[in-house]
Amino acid sequence: MTNDDLHDELFMKKIAVLTSGGDSPGMNAAIRAVVRTAVYHDCEAVGVFQGFQGLIAGDFKRLHVRSVAKILGRGGTILKSARCDEFREEQGRRKAHQQLVEQGVDALVVIGGNGTFTGAMHFSKETGFPVIGIPGTIDNDLSGSDFTIGFDSATNTVVEAVDKIRDTADSHNRLFFVEVMGRDSGFIALHAGIATGAVAVMTKESEITIEHLVDILKLGQASNKTSSIVIVAEGHPEGGAFEIAKKVYSLDSAYETRVTVLGHLQRGGDPTCADRVLASRLGVSAVEGLLSGKKNVMAGVINDQLVFFPFEEVVHNKTASLEDEVRIAKILSI
Ligand code: F6P
Repeated sequence: MTNDDLHDELFMKKIAVLTSGGDSPGMNAAIRAVVRTAVYHDCEAVGVFQGFQGLIAGDFKRLHVRSVAKILGRGGTILKSARCDEFREEQGRRKAHQQLVEQGVDALVVIGGNGTFTGAMHFSKETGFPVIGIPGTIDNDLSGSDFTIGFDSATNTVVEAVDKIRDTADSHNRLFFVEVMGRDSGFIALHAGIATGAVAVMTKESEITIEHLVDILKLGQASNKTSSIVIVAEGHPEGGAFEIAKKVYSLDSAYETRVTVLGHLQRGGDPTCADRVLASRLGVSAVEGLLSGKKNVMAGVINDQLVFFPFEEVVHNKTASLEDEVRIAKILSI
């Protein structure tokens, strides 16, 4: 694409970018890609600080090519992030629109997850303002992209932690319950469970009851397992790792049990190569999408192809299937 092809008709000159919701490793790489692609195509880039909160407050700053130097491999987000209640209301969204118009911004790139795109969808419907989303969340719970920025890094962090837990679990012949993030989705739990050889992965997708878990553990013991790791996805209907450990103990007290909740350390750290590349591809794609007239869509990668899906589909239609992972985790844990 040449610059002329892209924005001759649209006269897009100023593109703003923000990060919103839970941060994820690789968000900085996406910001860098958005800023550099905008400048490459002769547009001005503007950073909005503190997510939608900063959009409402007019917390904007021009970003140059060098403003985003040396952030490609850094975790967190230089633009900060927030969850903003005011943007859930139409009045808040109107204020945000007014700020964008006053500051002469022509289009907006939002990097975030489900909540971010729900807000962006309402905003663009009400105001007609061009918005494109980039999936940035460790949860990997958005349809419209095979992977979201941060998922690979977070899962690698979990794998590193569980490998360490395995060492001590094995030394003491212990049973460990490790709770991981993922809100409504079992992606982190199942991928980390497969990668660390967990005896069971408790997610809503795997549908393992407490009684069934006790049977799995008994089988493991009978077949000479010296340590066992159960990965628990947060928000599991049976409770978190502590509750599930207690329930197992009440049915079978044969194990020396410990619990680890990994928590927010999963959201920090340097992005992996996969996340840096994904973020870079999606940043370029989002800006070029805007310049070629796309709006109110999320940029994603499906089967290694850059694609765009309307916010409505991304937000309302979680089609991602974990059937394969559930089966693989089960077969390999015997
Ligand atoms: O959406 C990302 C995520 O890390 C979820 O996995 C988790 O449930 C949630 O955010 C935690 O949110 P907060 O940082 O606001 O406690």
